Amino acid sequence: MMATLCRRASRPLYLLSLLLLGVSACSAAPLEVPLGVDGARVVDASGANVRLACVNWFGTEQLDGSPSGLHIQDPKTIAETVSRLGFNCVRLPFSVQNVLTDPTLDARTVKAATEKGYKIRTSMDALDAAVSALSDAGVGVLLDNHMSDAGWCCNLVDDNGLWYNERWPEEAWVEAWVKLAARYRSTPLVFGADLRNEPRETRVKAAHGTPHACRVVDEPWGAWRDAFERCGRAIRAVNPQMLLVVEATGFSVTLPVHEIISGSGAVRLDRVVYSPHDYAWENPKNLSNLTYPAFEALLDKRWGVIATEGKYPILLGEFGASQVEKEHSRDTSYWRHMMLYLAKREEVGFALWSLDSSGANGDGKTPQWCKPPCCDKSGGSGHPHGEFQDWGLLNASYTGAANEAMARDLQNLMYRLKLAVMAV
Ligand SMILES: *[C@@H]1O[C@H](CO)[C@@H](O)[C@H](O)[C@H]1NC(C)=O
Ligand SMILES: *[C@@H]1O[C@H](CO)[C@@H](O)[C@H](O)[C@H]1NC(C)=O
Ligand SMILES: *[C@@H]1O[C@H](CO)[C@@H](O)[C@H](O)[C@H]1NC(C)=O
Repeated sequence: MMATLCRRASRPLYLLSLLLLGVSACSAAPLEVPLGVDGARVVDASGANVRLACVNWFGTEQLDGSPSGLHIQDPKTIAETVSRLGFNCVRLPFSVQNVLTDPTLDARTVKAATEKGYKIRTSMDALDAAVSALSDAGVGVLLDNHMSDAGWCCNLVDDNGLWYNERWPEEAWVEAWVKLAARYRSTPLVFGADLRNEPRETRVKAAHGTPHACRVVDEPWGAWRDAFERCGRAIRAVNPQMLLVVEATGFSVTLPVHEIISGSGAVRLDRVVYSPHDYAWENPKNLSNLTYPAFEALLDKRWGVIATEGKYPILLGEFGASQVEKEHSRDTSYWRHMMLYLAKREEVGFALWSLDSSGANGDGKTPQWCKPPCCDKSGGSGHPHGEFQDWGLLNASYTGAANEAMARDLQNLMYRLKLAVMAV
């Protein structure tokens, strides 16, 4: 089988297979769980270094309630495509609302999957189908609480900036996590929990009689860390093997690196991975003129130093660029710099945003929960069901890469680490 050959192939053989077969030549080596942590490295069950090479598969957290793409492809084909492209992991977002209420899906959302015999009626059915398919394909799953309410994330006026809001208090967040951790306890490739996506300030209705209708609520790192530890302990109580992934306040752009490295601000649990997000717009506007060393220095300072100091593992939980308009100069220089950075910092795991080539946010429905003036999300942030997503790794049929050159860039990163592992 090509997959086996590829995994064990020497470098020239691997390169030859890439040349002959394009980007679809290899499968990821299945993750050997449970995963652990050794300094800045994630290690597998045998103690070998693992580079998490993930892609985000959104949808379950949104109004459609299902991982996207199931209207045109079945979960098995999608999972096998992800594996064939070389990824060993998928970051799978969910919302507290969809997990706790398990809504019945619009049949159109999962049409292709049900036509192939999958019994998918509700949001949890769809999540189960995706998780089983990924697990069967040897792909690890990192669950990610992306939203409290069902919808597209993120901005400052979506009333979902923190791990709690008026409708979904902290207890509901923990309840949703415990439910999923227990549900997938016997699916060991569900290896990790990214407790909350991009914590950030949020706007809430001010008390009657105050001059402004809304008031800004924000939480410092310390309060977030305490909540993370409470929820992390509850998850581990039902599923001890879970790796815990922590993001930072302020959209997870800037980790409190000095506090983390010195230990005073580090999460007081074992097996924790720190997870910044880093997009082009979080970098200087003149990115196209920035030299690579300048870019490297910026990223090291923002978050890379946690790994280079050998303290804790880093998973770059979101980054990406349009897979279509690669010519766009800002995206091109960002992509080129980021690929070089990830090639040099090979202990840093990554999760591309995103797998999806189509939207999943409910046919133009306005989310009921979003109440102006403190929340402004009319039309679900402009991502209607099935709408083309140009950031998607996969093409419109979810069976191959949308942009082969960019997929090859990512495979180059995956391959480097496999060499390092094989050399041990
Ligand atoms: C890059 O440098 C060129 C030449 O110095 C300048 O014209 C251009 O505006 C700069 N681009 C950015 C994005 O700063
Ligand atoms: C880019 O902008 C930064 C400030 O944001 C400045 O320090 C740096 O010199 C600029 N670099 C180039 C190459 O223009
Ligand atoms: C997606 O990629 C696969 C594999 O290369 C190919 O067979 C399929 O035709 C592509 N689909 C579209 C819509 O381009």
